[in-house]
Amino acid sequence: MRPVNRQKLDGLTTRRWRQRLLSWYDRNRRDLPWRQDRDPYRVWISEIMLQQTRVSAVLEHYRRFLRRFPTVQKLAAAREPAVLAAWSGLGYYRRARMMHAAAKVIVKQHGGRFPGGIVELRSLPGVGRYTAAAISSIAFDAPAAVVDGNVERVLGRVFGPGLAGESFWQTAEALLSHKRPGDFNQAMMELGATVCLPRQPRCSTCPVFGLCATRGHLEQPKKVIHQKQRDICYALDHRNSSVFLVQRPKHSSLMPGMWELPEIPATNRSSPASFTLRHSITVTDYTVRVMRGPAPVLNQGRWVARKNILMLPLTGLTRKILRQAHVI
Ligand code: ADE
Repeated sequence: MRPVNRQKLDGLTTRRWRQRLLSWYDRNRRDLPWRQDRDPYRVWISEIMLQQTRVSAVLEHYRRFLRRFPTVQKLAAAREPAVLAAWSGLGYYRRARMMHAAAKVIVKQHGGRFPGGIVELRSLPGVGRYTAAAISSIAFDAPAAVVDGNVERVLGRVFGPGLAGESFWQTAEALLSHKRPGDFNQAMMELGATVCLPRQPRCSTCPVFGLCATRGHLEQPKKVIHQKQRDICYALDHRNSSVFLVQRPKHSSLMPGMWELPEIPATNRSSPASFTLRHSITVTDYTVRVMRGPAPVLNQGRWVARKNILMLPLTGLTRKILRQAHVI
């Protein structure tokens, strides 16, 4: 790798950075539904959904979730299964539970008005340093910088190796535009998501190429983490317009209380699968085999009418199977 020059963060560099980044953002920002206004409730929902989930995967869920829960009052008054059902497909369901708890706090302790200060925001369930800064800057124009994975990558390349932990936050704060903090933060994330890409950055279109220490000469790729391979098999018992589903234990560490198809243990898999699909979560790639036919005899589970299935909080994999089988 070519040695990089550490850039100094002087006044001139900072001004140039803000100006180039913001004018690039004004011309290139994606037209995303949470950018249509600055309603803190809508900003909050988008920021929670965008944690651990790509923009393209969030779009459809965001619209649906807001149709179902258009205000913080509606969300606070909902029952948890309804919230989880609307979250279904986004994964990491703890986010939805925390959001639901935070909505209740906003209604009970803040009279339904979203708090704008960093301290109050951070005291809400599920709102950490990043989310508090994102909401307060985007919805309330507060001068708080955000650092997420994209911003770390941008700063790490522009200033060269040496930035880590707290120094990412300090550098982002130093660069932040106090006139347009929300747009600045979104522009930083947008640059990371659309130009300063992890493997093949599009340096020729980068607005801050002239200020960058790395300019496409990238760090060595990280060692590939090998995914674990697992087989899993489910029974799809579909009769009289109903499907047999089971609920995961309420205290399970993974997706507690959510509904899924009954699993067929390896020892009982005699007939060939009706269809197969692939499903990946974190470090495991599943080969999922689905057998149409009677569910294994279980002393739990229940028949759910097709028309009611989407009202239950389903696991993402169950939704995928039921969609592929044209049940939902
Ligand atoms: N990632 C998370 N929030 C974002 C936002 N508001 N704009 C761009 N990327 C994001």
